[in-house]
Amino acid sequence: TLVEWDIEAAEKCGYDHFMLKEIHEQPKSLKDVMSGRLNEFTGDVELKEMTLTRAEIGSLKRVIIIACGTSYHAGMMGKYAIESVTDIPVSVEIGSEFRYSSNRVGPETLIIAISQSGETADTVAAIKDARKKGSNVIAITNVVGSTISREADSTIYMRTGPEIGVAATKTFTGQIAVIYMIALYLGRARGNISPEDARSIISEMKSLSQKSKLVLEKEEYIANIARMFVNAPSFFFVGRNLNFPAALEGALKLKEISYIYSEGFAAGELKHGPLALLTTNIPVVAIATRCPTYDKMVSNIKEIKARDASVIAIASECDNKISQFVDLVIKIPDAGEYASPVLSSIALQLFAYYVARFRGCPIDKPRNLAKSVTVE
Ligand code: G6P
Repeated sequence: TLVEWDIEAAEKCGYDHFMLKEIHEQPKSLKDVMSGRLNEFTGDVELKEMTLTRAEIGSLKRVIIIACGTSYHAGMMGKYAIESVTDIPVSVEIGSEFRYSSNRVGPETLIIAISQSGETADTVAAIKDARKKGSNVIAITNVVGSTISREADSTIYMRTGPEIGVAATKTFTGQIAVIYMIALYLGRARGNISPEDARSIISEMKSLSQKSKLVLEKEEYIANIARMFVNAPSFFFVGRNLNFPAALEGALKLKEISYIYSEGFAAGELKHGPLALLTTNIPVVAIATRCPTYDKMVSNIKEIKARDASVIAIASECDNKISQFVDLVIKIPDAGEYASPVLSSIALQLFAYYVARFRGCPIDKPRNLAKSVTVE
């Protein structure tokens, strides 16, 4: 008999879509990205790829992170992390906007370019410009030998393996892990963070692989929630601090693959405009995990409920209180403030995936989008 080979089906390893396969690869990719780079006992970060000397790190005056799309959201998380564990101010710039404000660039500015593909034209153009002006450029990418890795002074690979789905998933969490490692590396080199504090962040990061498995175990529950919202006309996502970029990324995932209009907001900004749009049929996803901003998030949720919108909370396992304020709760494992947004993001990847799937969308190849954009 004739056996018909379907290479694509074989590559999906039994999953219906590459995106779902890649979401499920995160317990492994989160382990691989940190392997041999983080020492839980000494608090040291080993990034052999870094070419900067201790003295050069000591003389840095600022960091500018440059990225596009999902990578930009990882960059925003990087800003919070670097500013928490070092005394260096950080700005995050969209690749295509960088050149309009690049006059701060020079030898005292460290540029960190984040690009899954390493080929995004806007990001490549920005780092070429920055290098000409004398900045050291560190690239974070997934693709060995990519343009960005050739243009940068040093490259730190995410080691997540190829990502086929257009919507970035495992590379997003890989980027966050790398930028956290760079933050710790800079903080340790400048003496801004003690070995004890570094150790505690490292052990939080190292728990991510195991905890991400627990998020994936909620797949069916998340799919059931997604099914309730397939006809929503639009969606809001809100969060604070590190959960703000997680909210932006949750909204981006949903719009990319389900074509539902969705926006992410800093929860505190709702009252400065977006609240005017809220009605009963716009669901709001609120990332309200246990962290220093929890109480403020609960107040924001009450403001949203006062407009009769449905609220889906992403909350910590230990939180027995949140369900009284919201309509639905997706619980993620208890985790520290650095690890938690990574876990929330994985839950939101599954949520976007199932909304899109129930709407019958072509998940791995959304209309009008490309995996890497090589035009400016
Ligand atoms: C495209 C992809 C996105 C990605 C963005 C940046 O728009 O569809 O998933 O986030 O490019 O890509 P990069 O390869 O630079 O991370």
